[in-house]
Amino acid sequence: MYTCRKMTFALTGGSLLSLMLLCTLVGAVEAAAGDEELPDYSSAGADTCLKCHGDDESAHLLALFDGPHGVIADERTPMGASQCESCHGPGGEHAARVGFRQQRPPMPAFGPNALWSKQRENEVCLGCHQDPARRFWDGGTHQSQDVSCVDCHSIHTRRDPVTVQSSQPEVCLGCHTRQRAEIHRAYTHPLRFGEMACSDCHQSHGSPNEFMLESMTINQNCYQCHAEKRGPYLWEHAPVTEDCTLCHRTHGSNHPALLTRRAPLLCQQCHSRSGHPSVGRTGEALPDGSPSVFLLSGSCLNCHSQVHGSNHPSGAMLNR
Ligand code: HEC
Ligand code: HEC
Ligand code: HEC
Ligand code: HEC
Ligand code: HEC
Ligand code: HEC
Ligand code: HEC
Ligand code: HEC
Ligand code: HEC
Ligand code: HEC
Repeated sequence: MYTCRKMTFALTGGSLLSLMLLCTLVGAVEAAAGDEELPDYSSAGADTCLKCHGDDESAHLLALFDGPHGVIADERTPMGASQCESCHGPGGEHAARVGFRQQRPPMPAFGPNALWSKQRENEVCLGCHQDPARRFWDGGTHQSQDVSCVDCHSIHTRRDPVTVQSSQPEVCLGCHTRQRAEIHRAYTHPLRFGEMACSDCHQSHGSPNEFMLESMTINQNCYQCHAEKRGPYLWEHAPVTEDCTLCHRTHGSNHPALLTRRAPLLCQQCHSRSGHPSVGRTGEALPDGSPSVFLLSGSCLNCHSQVHGSNHPSGAMLNR
């Protein structure tokens, strides 16, 4: 009987010898790799770090202790484990005394001069946060565009702004400047007033849905809050069932009700046959000189008011 790497083998002679040789080799390679990565942690955890990083100048760092990562009594949190070094990596070398005019070695992770790549840094966070909420992170748009966890998340804070509804948009809009312009238009979802967050519609950690939406399709996403538009209607209006964004600009628009454009132009994108749907386009006035009802106030909606669908038995023309 010979036991190698927790497996037992019943072998004799030449094959036993080869197995023993192989087993020793694998062990040696593993030990060597281990040596290379042998972590060089500081002697007293956070107390070591705070000897230098606990002064007034770095007081902002201490907000960490009021947040979810700073609970020393909870061994799931970094401060309950290897403390500062759970995130920043082994800091023995950095914390050691350095000679006169000698450069202090930087910390492995999360500093302006950090040695680890963004991807390696993300692994630190994922080490504790590899749960269903992040199952689409790998291959998701943000991951593949090299956006890292800490591009959105602030750690040395009491309450991470990106997890708070009112302060979240500001974090996202730092990169998404087109959406910043859109949410400042005249008609918008109430994002800029802190009454709604980007994460009401989007999955920041990646999602299998287009545009990283919360729901499978754009319409399902809208129905979550605008359930009355789901129907079912006796008389459907085909584009409504197909895609709300055929007529609405979700983040914001300069036309009322977030419309992409106003009627009659809105309707005439699709209804441009001859006959009355084309009347508005001609801009013709009525014989007495007053503007056509096709152009006044609601334009086409003056009559076709049930633009999302009608439940009236004779509402096939969406006018009741
Ligand atoms: C002996 C004093 C001292 C100790 C102990 C110390 N640091 Fe530092 N640390 C510094 C100084 C000085 C700087 C600024 C270095 C620079 O700007 O080059 C710094 C910079 C940093 C930075 C950011 C800059 C970079 O180089 O990327 C981080 C992160 C950091 N320290 C974390 C830690 C952690 C975590 C510990 C505990 C394991 C620790 N430090 C212990 C003195 C210390
Ligand atoms: C949960 C992970 C985590 C823990 C735990 C943590 N840090 Fe940090 N630290 C970060 C990240 C991420 C940054 C980069 C800037 C940011 O997002 O706030 C950072 C930045 C820093 C910096 C440089 C930036 C600055 O503002 O000066 C220092 C120094 C630092 N940390 C020291 C510490 C010390 C000391 C501790 C332990 C008391 C600690 N960190 C614990 C994640 C962590
Ligand atoms: C040693 C494990 C550990 C590491 C490393 C770690 N976290 Fe956490 N994190 C936790 C625990 C535990 C909680 C509290 C969870 C709870 O209360 O359910 C938490 C909470 C959070 C929260 C929720 C905050 C809130 O306000 O609700 C965020 C966001 C977060 N972590 C992001 C990060 C990021 C980003 C990193 C990498 C810089 C990181 N974490 C590294 C263990 C860790
Ligand atoms: C594009 C910005 C963004 C990036 C990048 C990002 N997050 Fe988040 N994260 C958020 C937002 C927004 C929330 C709060 C709303 C939510 O849950 O969707 C959040 C919430 C969390 C939470 C607390 C709630 C939960 O889902 O468990 C944790 C933990 C967390 N993120 C970890 C991570 C980790 C780990 C990474 C890197 C792999 C990461 N995040 C990358 C934006 C981001
Ligand atoms: C560090 C910069 C950065 C931050 C911060 C950021 N993003 Fe992104 N985001 C990107 C990049 C880069 C892309 C890919 C290119 C693009 O579509 O603009 C992207 C793409 C997206 C997409 C399109 C996804 C797709 O598959 O089409 C959505 C939606 C999105 N981000 C939402 C958010 C939300 C919500 C937040 C805040 C919680 C956020 N982003 C924060 C950089 C960022
Ligand atoms: C009411 C739901 C909703 C909210 C809130 C929302 N979005 Fe979107 N977002 C969408 C929909 C739907 C799309 C896809 C169709 C479109 O572009 O209108 C989208 C698309 C995007 C895209 C991809 C655009 C492109 O053309 O590739 C980005 C980036 C984005 N949103 C960022 C954000 C940011 C940042 C916020 C917060 C300030 C935010 N969104 C808030 C619904 C929303
Ligand atoms: C998380 C909930 C939520 C989701 C999801 C959502 N909305 Fe909204 N929507 C709102 C709120 C809240 C308002 C503001 C209502 C108000 O101001 O009275 C609003 C307003 C609107 C308005 C303007 C209403 C008016 O009277 O001017 C339109 C149009 C609209 N949403 C379309 C959409 C579309 C299209 C989608 C899907 C892409 C969508 N919404 C997804 C919550 C949501
Ligand atoms: C064919 C174009 C078109 C499509 C497609 C469309 N809408 Fe509208 N929507 C309009 C018009 C036009 C108005 C303005 C109605 C008015 O002024 O009376 C409007 C108004 C709204 C309003 C605010 C007023 C109200 O009726 O509550 C909401 C919310 C809304 N739409 C949601 C949706 C949702 C959700 C979808 C997708 C299921 C959708 N719309 C698809 C044309 C459309
Ligand atoms: C994106 C294209 C599109 C837009 C924009 C659009 N429609 Fe339609 N509409 C359709 C389609 C497709 C039908 C179904 C036609 C059919 O069944 O023959 C339809 C049907 C109708 C009908 C029922 C008549 C019929 O032939 O069944 C009316 C009335 C109508 N639309 C009015 C409007 C009005 C008013 C607007 C502007 C507020 C508008 N539509 C915007 C595509 C559109
Ligand atoms: C004064 C009221 C009124 C206005 C304004 C109006 N419609 Fe109509 N529309 C009707 C009536 C009534 C019918 C049904 C006619 C019939 O059955 O012969 C109809 C039928 C339709 C139809 C289906 C039959 C067809 O002729 O193709 C479409 C599409 C339509 N309208 C689109 C529009 C558009 C687009 C506008 C704006 C330019 C508009 N309508 C403005 C009253 C109106």
